[in-house]
Amino acid sequence: MEPKALLEKLERKNKEAMEGGGTERIQKQHEAGKLTARERIEILLDKNTFVETDRFKTHRCNDFGMEIEKIPGDGVITGHGLIHGRTVFVFAQDFTVLGGSLSFAHAEKICKIMKTAMRVGAPVIGLCDSGGARIQSGVMSLAGYADIFLLNVMASGVIPQITAIMGPSAGGAVYSPALTDWIFMVEKTSHMFITGPEVIKAVTRETVTKEELGGAMAHNEKSGVAHFASPDDETCLHQIRELMTFLPRNNMEDPPLMESKDDPMRLDEALRTAVPTDPNMPYDIREIIRSNMDEHYFFEVHELWAKNIVVGFGRLDGMPVGVVANQPNFMAGCLDINASVKGARFVRFCDAFNIPLIIYEDVPGFLPGIHQEHGGIIRNGAKLIYAFCEATVPRITIITRKAYGGAYIVMSSKHIRGDVNLAYPTAEIAVMGAEGAVNIICREEISKAQDPDAERKRLIEHYRETFANPYKAAELGYIDDVIDPADTRPKIIQALRMLRTKRDINPSKKHANMPL
Ligand code: HXC
Repeated sequence: MEPKALLEKLERKNKEAMEGGGTERIQKQHEAGKLTARERIEILLDKNTFVETDRFKTHRCNDFGMEIEKIPGDGVITGHGLIHGRTVFVFAQDFTVLGGSLSFAHAEKICKIMKTAMRVGAPVIGLCDSGGARIQSGVMSLAGYADIFLLNVMASGVIPQITAIMGPSAGGAVYSPALTDWIFMVEKTSHMFITGPEVIKAVTRETVTKEELGGAMAHNEKSGVAHFASPDDETCLHQIRELMTFLPRNNMEDPPLMESKDDPMRLDEALRTAVPTDPNMPYDIREIIRSNMDEHYFFEVHELWAKNIVVGFGRLDGMPVGVVANQPNFMAGCLDINASVKGARFVRFCDAFNIPLIIYEDVPGFLPGIHQEHGGIIRNGAKLIYAFCEATVPRITIITRKAYGGAYIVMSSKHIRGDVNLAYPTAEIAVMGAEGAVNIICREEISKAQDPDAERKRLIEHYRETFANPYKAAELGYIDDVIDPADTRPKIIQALRMLRTKRDINPSKKHANMPL
């Protein structure tokens, strides 16, 4: 063949691959409010940086007439490109080709980029839009999923793994996203479930819609499976780009510094009155977090689930930090099962990827209740203790108000290797709150008093003055300093600068045995 003819052939083949499932199916995809796989990649990556791999790969199935259904790329587009100038690997399932269903060849394409990503130390981002296992491929497609699951686990803690659910994700197929670090979902168009509404109706007689069962809100608000909900594909892809600004490319690298114009020594006098002195008054911890962060910017994650704990990313002095904060505005900031799990997972992610942790503490304790006890608050609360004990990244804690009981220990106290522990003058560091304590230890005194109510009040006040303050803990060195709240940002930044060279290790072991 002449060189010209050869190039024409290449052009023809490329064109065919670019068309995916054809114009009709692309139109259907758009009508459903979804972008195509290629359009999604365009938005996700820096302009003109996508390098595609395996564009011509096809499946090898010849059953059920599949020998004539060979579309180049086989329903998934794979390759690498840049986000904010840094390499990432990406796969985007193409719903216009056999419903984005997964054949063995489709899985091989995903595994290929995952293996390369691990070798070069770059994140993997998966954009999922798939009818699940390719039915015609039979058990081969299950083998393909298994290969992906194995690589998800091998890559965990080595490179960040991000999944966006942008269409259906059903059956065992949901477990690859579940094994990754972050799950994004798009409202109305994405669904995740192990078994769909019809199967549920047949088995349990429960009636539920697809959206109620496994839509973006169900998994962001109720199950905690997803970390982000976006109104449309474009917003979702921009959110992923944003998340990437806080993450290193791999576990051997520090997170990317971003020059900040915000004065590291900036004071905020408003913080002096941000924490109510009445221990029963709620306030929004996010106001203090935002005040402390560079440019007042806080990127909250897992926002809609377990709102009694707030987690997310910010920057201090240009350095990305992970924030874990009790939220007095919701359930008084109590630690319950969901908050413990949410906090533990976030702490472990930050620790795996060298992101320092800033902890804001105002916690009355673990949530009492039969539901909590029987749901396993002991086992689940232990996860948060475990995660903090194990974490070797720099850890700075600010106790704004309550630090009671076991919850005081959990929230990165000095005793479990917290590096710098500071307290506001409003801090109450004690075994329990004044009222509860007096009711237990002064029961007899109160009952014998002429005016029991007045005596209770007097004893509560006495307890508060004696124990419910930061100074007893400061005397013992359990906190390093009691600070003027206006100074919080400079104090955290000074600590962070001091800790920049921190090195700490855990004993060598095959792996630990976290209470799951
Ligand atoms: C092969 C599939 C497919 C699949 C969809 N298609 N799912 N082809 N294998 N799993 C094809 C359809 O035949 C159709 O082809 C095209 O994709 C679009 O599908 P539609 O049904 O027209 O689209 P829609 O109405 O939007 O419905 C989407 C859907 C539905 C909800 C995903 O297709 C569906 O229920 N599919 C089956 C889902 C399923 O049961 N998967 C197996 C799950 S078990 P044409 O040619 O008409 O365009 C599993 C096990 C994994 O995944 C285990 C891992 C451990």
